Amino acid sequence: MIRELSNPSVCMRDPQKVQEILESMVKAGSNTVQVISDFDMTLTRFAYNGKRCPTCHNILDNSDLISSECKEKLKELLNTYYPIEIDSSRSIEEKLPLMVEWWTKAHELLVQQEIRKDLLAGVVRTSDAMLREGYEVFFNRLRDHSIPLLIFSAGIGDILEEVIRQAEVFHSNVKVFSNYMDFDESGVLKAFKGELIHIYNKREGALLNTGHFQELRTRPNVLLLGDSLGDLTMADGVQDMENILKIGFLNDKVEERKPSYLDSYDIVLVKDETLEVPNAVLRYLT
Ligand code: C5P
Ligand code: MG
Repeated sequence: MIRELSNPSVCMRDPQKVQEILESMVKAGSNTVQVISDFDMTLTRFAYNGKRCPTCHNILDNSDLISSECKEKLKELLNTYYPIEIDSSRSIEEKLPLMVEWWTKAHELLVQQEIRKDLLAGVVRTSDAMLREGYEVFFNRLRDHSIPLLIFSAGIGDILEEVIRQAEVFHSNVKVFSNYMDFDESGVLKAFKGELIHIYNKREGALLNTGHFQELRTRPNVLLLGDSLGDLTMADGVQDMENILKIGFLNDKVEERKPSYLDSYDIVLVKDETLEVPNAVLRYLT
């Protein structure tokens, strides 16, 4: 039905179920659809020319706003905690406190750096941040069909917004839930706002934002995009959900993680740096 679902990167445990969900969503119409997407390594690329692309945190960590001593410490944290994040032999329960530890320590270090708000745009401009191939089609199609896009990220909201603003796709149908920086009156970072969002508490984050989902209650059909098993709970705040189609990018540690991804995501995209499949699904739905 959708040609791109035969792409070599596509894996599905139950293609028949995918077909049924898609048919049901088409029947309901695109005015009943909302999209909820993770940001880092879902809307952005995992690698380009064999080199890892940065997350929101990495964009800042690698910038010249951070002292070399602090860079070392942030790198050490990354080298300690990222392998835990993608370790398929540990349960989410086991990883959760360690992820809180990672985010908390990293944010503490960032706050010590007296980062200036007015320099963030330049940092993003000179970074290696890269949205996935096909991002213009993705964002523009959603705008053209007035389909709301919620970007739900455990990254840094100020950086994320700047990435999509500079790519000229921060349209009015886009809403962001993320960790936002809090600046003092002279524009220097003093803390992060509100409850911390890390990769395993997106459910709690969603439930704190009932107002958003209440506004979208006429859109019970959800297209969810993620790259972590923690992203599966991003739609937990959706009211009276009718259908959900979950598309997961499997970027790293592919063989170990494939079984669990196939169990939880309807469509798994293995080492696929493009938005070709999500775009094909959107074309089909609109
Ligand atoms: O947007 P998303 O929810 O994917 O953002 C979370 C990602 O940020 C995680 O996958 C994690 O690897 C990364 N991260 C990071 N540096 C930190 C904390 C998280 O690169 N200090
Ligand atoms: Mg991610």
